[in-house]
Amino acid sequence: MKLTISVIKADIGSIGGHLCPSQRLMETVNAYVTEHGANLLLDSYISYTGDDIAIVSTHERDPNDAEVHKLCWDAFMAGTRAAKDQGLYGAGQDLLKEAFSGNVRGMGPAVAELRFDERPNEPFLFFAADKTDPGAYNLPLYLAFADPMNTPGLMLSPGMSEGFRFVIMDVNYTEGDRVIELNAPEDLYGIATLLRDTERYVVESVWSRSTGEQAAAISTSRLHNIAGKYTGKDDPVMLVRVQKDFPATGEVLAPYAIGPYVAGAMRGSHQMPLMPVPLNSGISYFDGPPVVSCAAFAMQRGKMTEPVDAFAHPFWDTVRDAVARKAIDMRRQGFFGAAMLPMSELEYTGIMEKLKTLDERFVVRAESTHALPHRAIATARVG
Ligand code: F6R
Ligand code: MG
Ligand code: MG
Repeated sequence: MKLTISVIKADIGSIGGHLCPSQRLMETVNAYVTEHGANLLLDSYISYTGDDIAIVSTHERDPNDAEVHKLCWDAFMAGTRAAKDQGLYGAGQDLLKEAFSGNVRGMGPAVAELRFDERPNEPFLFFAADKTDPGAYNLPLYLAFADPMNTPGLMLSPGMSEGFRFVIMDVNYTEGDRVIELNAPEDLYGIATLLRDTERYVVESVWSRSTGEQAAAISTSRLHNIAGKYTGKDDPVMLVRVQKDFPATGEVLAPYAIGPYVAGAMRGSHQMPLMPVPLNSGISYFDGPPVVSCAAFAMQRGKMTEPVDAFAHPFWDTVRDAVARKAIDMRRQGFFGAAMLPMSELEYTGIMEKLKTLDERFVVRAESTHALPHRAIATARVG
């Protein structure tokens, strides 16, 4: 059976600043999808990660389907009304356009969709991250799909021996989708060269080279490119098919034990370690740390089982402790050096205004005392 899994997520308001949505908001979105999606969807699942609500749905339409996207947009609109009514902070903040037009891409919500022929048993993973951007998945995807040190399946499983194709997007390019296709293992150094720059190059999808099937879909939206100003971090979602010709669930999860530093946390402007958290976790320390959740599903004819909370297992408590220590260590250096993002990635304009005022106060001395010794050395060398 050919079907599509769609994840559409948005921040439409939360309690206590940017911590997590209210129960009523969750119920409103859920009720809307259940009621209005009855004849359109095969199944749906709604969860939150930090201040973002994600609608996972299965259906027989293609990706970017107008009706599926409109259903989610309208559910977020209904949620926004409830959020405003409750006085939630940032009510409707990710719904950047006035009216729905065609599909939600470029309108604020993040989207990841996978279309495939359902296998007789179909396991897949749904990831959602908050207080960070899509580049946060670059390292976990590289390790899971291209590195035999992480994924023994690349050596052991015949269905994986040809490797995987990475489609990588230049998210700074705003005129359209600027993408490159690179094959692991032969383009490994090229893939690494791009993926190290998490703010510019992000994995959009991964494909099996043995079967041609899509293995992973990642949301790549850059909110500040859409809105032209600070609107929060992009808080990406991702779908990954697992097992058999794809990496095993454990191979896809393993890289999250690293707790790598990613862009985000407070005011979307810092470097903080990514913490794997249980489903429906909120945000706390320093408007962070950036978090990622993972719901694992099995599926038959588009009907999903209940989710298994992949990061709720006791193993991840140790990882969380290590990540918390890394986060506190980084915060000890405040605004200094690597703790904050480079100027181009700071999510607020205040610093640019401050720099402008300071720039006007700089003076160039008539006589440069500082440069003299260098000049003297240069003259001495020439002489
Ligand atoms: C939001 C976020 C937070 C906010 C911060 C200030 O996703 O990352 O760190 O940026 O709480 O929020 P405002 O500017 O809305 O008061
Ligand atoms: Mg968020
Ligand atoms: Mg937010």
